[in-house]
Amino acid sequence: MSTDPMSSEIITVQSHIIEKQRKHPQATGEFSWLLSGITLATKIIESKVRRAGLLDILGADGRINVQGEIVQKLDRIANETLLRTLGYRGNIGIMASEEDDEPHMVKDVGEEGRYIVLFDPLDGSSNIDVNVSVGTIFSVLRRKAGEWNRENPVVHLLQPGFEQVAAGYVVYGSSTVLTYTTGNGVHMFTLDPDIGAYVLCNEDVKMPDTGKMYSVNEAYLSTFPKGYRDYLGWAKGEGYSLRYIGSFVADFHRTLLRGGVFLYPPTTKQPEGKLRLLYEANPMAFIAQQAGGAASDGTQAIMKKQPKALHERTPLIIGSKSEVDRVLGFLA
Ligand code: AHG
Ligand code: MN
Ligand code: MN
Repeated sequence: MSTDPMSSEIITVQSHIIEKQRKHPQATGEFSWLLSGITLATKIIESKVRRAGLLDILGADGRINVQGEIVQKLDRIANETLLRTLGYRGNIGIMASEEDDEPHMVKDVGEEGRYIVLFDPLDGSSNIDVNVSVGTIFSVLRRKAGEWNRENPVVHLLQPGFEQVAAGYVVYGSSTVLTYTTGNGVHMFTLDPDIGAYVLCNEDVKMPDTGKMYSVNEAYLSTFPKGYRDYLGWAKGEGYSLRYIGSFVADFHRTLLRGGVFLYPPTTKQPEGKLRLLYEANPMAFIAQQAGGAASDGTQAIMKKQPKALHERTPLIIGSKSEVDRVLGFLA
């Protein structure tokens, strides 16, 4: 082992973003300011997740959110943390969350505050009570030409995924890992709890092009469209493995590193699939694409879909490029 301390640098997510921006002379630094707000929020959320059992904040708080699901206490805490951390950055005009029916227009933001942040503050929250990995997902858009429409801010959010300027997620697993892209590859950082910083662990991550693993809630198999059933039958014959955590962030994280495919098809109960286009499917599709993978709803690329509503759902096929193509072959 080398004893030269300069042979292995320590790069935090903050310095990584600043370094990347230096290569763009037109960059103003406001974007790194925005991303540092998100990383701060996820550190606060992670500390709550880690202490959940101790603080007696486990379990449902009894309310139903706009999706008709029971709101977990930590969902609410995570949501408020993001809103409070990002609301004062000055460059964010709108925030929108899975937990809130309507987007939040930041009151005193001027026209120079041109960013839009959408998030799933706590993904997989039904898993918290059983100590299974959960996560936060975010997507960043820019306001299109024109001024803010304060009466109807949702019009600013309905942009296809290819318009994203950044996307990322944090998985609060056996360690806490942040993954982000700004369209220049996918970069991964592990939170060092001793120093409270995300440290670079994997630069320019590439998804394996194949992988004999599928991830789906197979309990709903009989209600999937035929092409999905055929693919799953074929995969079994080929000796594939099944991995399903039930936290999209964690299932996607494994798929990114190990390859294979994650599926949430249309079902009888959820004819449009379950996952949300704007703050679950799009950010992960951006990351998958930047890592050499792919994402589709079965008929078109996820990032080409024109959103019609903030909380719209989409069927999702995401993962290794050749495996996504194979599923699409069965659907054709
Ligand atoms: P959320 O906790 O943000 O509502 O998301 C839950 C999602 C997602 O994390 C996971 O992939 C999916 O629900 C699992 O759904 P099933 O229980 O239907 O398999
Ligand atoms: Mn979710
Ligand atoms: Mn959620």
